[in-house]
Amino acid sequence: MKVPFGDLSRQYKKYKKEFDNIISSVFANGNFILGENVTRFENNFSNYLGAKHAIGVGSATEALFLALKAIGIKNGDEVITVANTAVPTVSAIDFAGAKPVFIDIEESSYNINPKRIENRITLKTKAIIPVHLYGNPCNMDSIIQIAQKYDLKVIEDSAQAHGAQYKGKKVGTFGDLSAFSFYPSKNLGANGDAGMVVTNNEDLAVKVRLLRNYGFEDRYKSIIRGFNSRLDEIQAALLDFKLSKLDEWNLRRKQISDMYNKGLEKLPIILPSTVPENKHVFHLFVIRVKQREKFMKFLSDEGISTVIHYPIPIHMQPAYKYLNYKKGFLPVTEKVAEEIVSLPIYPDLEDAEVEYVIKSIKKFFN
Ligand SMILES: Cc1ncc(COP(=O)(O)O)c(C=O)c1O
Repeated sequence: MKVPFGDLSRQYKKYKKEFDNIISSVFANGNFILGENVTRFENNFSNYLGAKHAIGVGSATEALFLALKAIGIKNGDEVITVANTAVPTVSAIDFAGAKPVFIDIEESSYNINPKRIENRITLKTKAIIPVHLYGNPCNMDSIIQIAQKYDLKVIEDSAQAHGAQYKGKKVGTFGDLSAFSFYPSKNLGANGDAGMVVTNNEDLAVKVRLLRNYGFEDRYKSIIRGFNSRLDEIQAALLDFKLSKLDEWNLRRKQISDMYNKGLEKLPIILPSTVPENKHVFHLFVIRVKQREKFMKFLSDEGISTVIHYPIPIHMQPAYKYLNYKKGFLPVTEKVAEEIVSLPIYPDLEDAEVEYVIKSIKKFFN
């Protein structure tokens, strides 16, 4: 059996008629940029989250960048985040002119350790970007409390956490702003690049709307220095349809994670852990094993693809050498990066495939 790490052609097979109709109706309509599909999806997405405003943009990298610009980040400011994230979290901070400041993570959740934030705050610190990694919410109460104490802004990186909840409330609604990715493999994925900025703050929403479209108040009238980062009509129309499936898809991810948790419980593996106040949406199912290379090779020989999210923490990436972090500075991040492996998890994965992955992993440890 072959178990791919992801396979979006399965989604197309299932919804071919719907996708084809959606795409042809956008073509027939003839409007491709900032039209009714973008507005509809923005409204439906903000309603889904329980947020006041959603602004469609080109990607989550750009959503983070525009969010940072909207709160007035400028050269020399510092923004607190983690090093065990996708590179774009940090690209956005860097391109906004700020210095990323990395905090170590909790070994249980792999998310930012709120206890380690306060002693890294300086006079230059302006914002915190918690990342709800793998679909598991950060400890938002502690983060918001620290942000309020030091008058910092919070921008949630919700790129991997569509529909995840913390204390019964969807992530992306806690911070001043939040960024979502609709990269194709995400829990809610477009068929190309796409992203969203979410906020409950009217002034920030107005600002992001201007920033994403050259600062245009009216056509050809720029009232602030803006940029081009727009969600397009085809992606918005497809995403609006897929939004109606998101809860069902997240439920399927949960079922698969339950199968893995049960099937792998007695093995020398560290399984994902979460806390009762979290609803984890399992964008990724990440386990930890000691002999990772051998483990991945064994599964690959069995026809099972696995991936590491992420093998090199950002402070150890060649591009970010200039930040001058030494190995050992983020011990938990560095330790975890050596052991993590992501198993296949997506709504179209079949039970038989999940069972095969479990059986193969058991075989490895026997
Ligand atoms: C945690 C995190 N932040 C940001 C991004 C950037 O998203 P995008 O690819 O939409 O720019 C991603 C996607 O890879 C991500 O996983």
